[in-house]
Amino acid sequence: RKPVSLPRLAEMRERGEKITMLTAYDATFAAVADAAGVECILVGDSLGMVCQGLASTVGVTLETMRHHTECVVRGLQRVQATAWVIGDLPFGSYHESPEQALRSATVLMQAGAHMVKLEGGGWTTDTVRFLVERGIPVCAHLGLTPQTVHSLGGYRVQGRGHDAGEQLKRQAIELQHAGAAMLVLEMVPAALATDITHQLHSCHTIGIGAGKGTAGQVLVMHDMLGINLGKNPKFVRNFMEGATSVRGAMEAYVRAVKDGTFPDDSLHAW
Ligand code: KIV
Ligand code: NA
Repeated sequence: RKPVSLPRLAEMRERGEKITMLTAYDATFAAVADAAGVECILVGDSLGMVCQGLASTVGVTLETMRHHTECVVRGLQRVQATAWVIGDLPFGSYHESPEQALRSATVLMQAGAHMVKLEGGGWTTDTVRFLVERGIPVCAHLGLTPQTVHSLGGYRVQGRGHDAGEQLKRQAIELQHAGAAMLVLEMVPAALATDITHQLHSCHTIGIGAGKGTAGQVLVMHDMLGINLGKNPKFVRNFMEGATSVRGAMEAYVRAVKDGTFPDDSLHAW
């Protein structure tokens, strides 16, 4: 197997093959996800909630993200894995200035990430351009951006209605112009996510609670294994049902994303 790279992801997109992404926070689960055929592993700041027991991702620090990125990368190296690794920039680590974002991104890249992810649109565009110009691949993240949960008033659908949808679409196009190579769309109407996907060519949309029209899908690993501590978000499917191993569940996820049976329309009512 060849390592996953930006050109390979672009080829997949060209062929109409869906891109699969799962979160992982440690060596073993990252290696299992890779073995199951997951192309992209996101060391998400969701680790604050699933590993650290925090109520939101706001309390996650750059040092914690560095540590978990290193753990994931070491696990992948041990099994000669091919996955593309994305490190999440945590709250406060990129908000001050492009320069601060570069310093934070450097920490995650030196921990072995291939790409960094940051949340938000508009004010993030200059930061994305600054990083991309300096050789750091960037994944953007629009819609429900969990680091701003307190401003958004909860974990709720974003981009509903004409104006909110148009603003989100505008931000997505700006982020592509700035050089973002991927864009997570979280909890937005399926029609909007599909529309944005059609507008973007060099930037691949990865949906979570955004319907099946995106270029790829992502889930939090603990959610798709059915071991979420809280109530499962509506868009999640428990892939352990019918599976006999974690690897089997992840393989079922990859199959379902590739053949278009996940997500299905009953999984998002927006
Ligand atoms: O931190 C995370 O797991 C994420 C995904 C939900 C996209 O940002
Ligand atoms: Na995140």
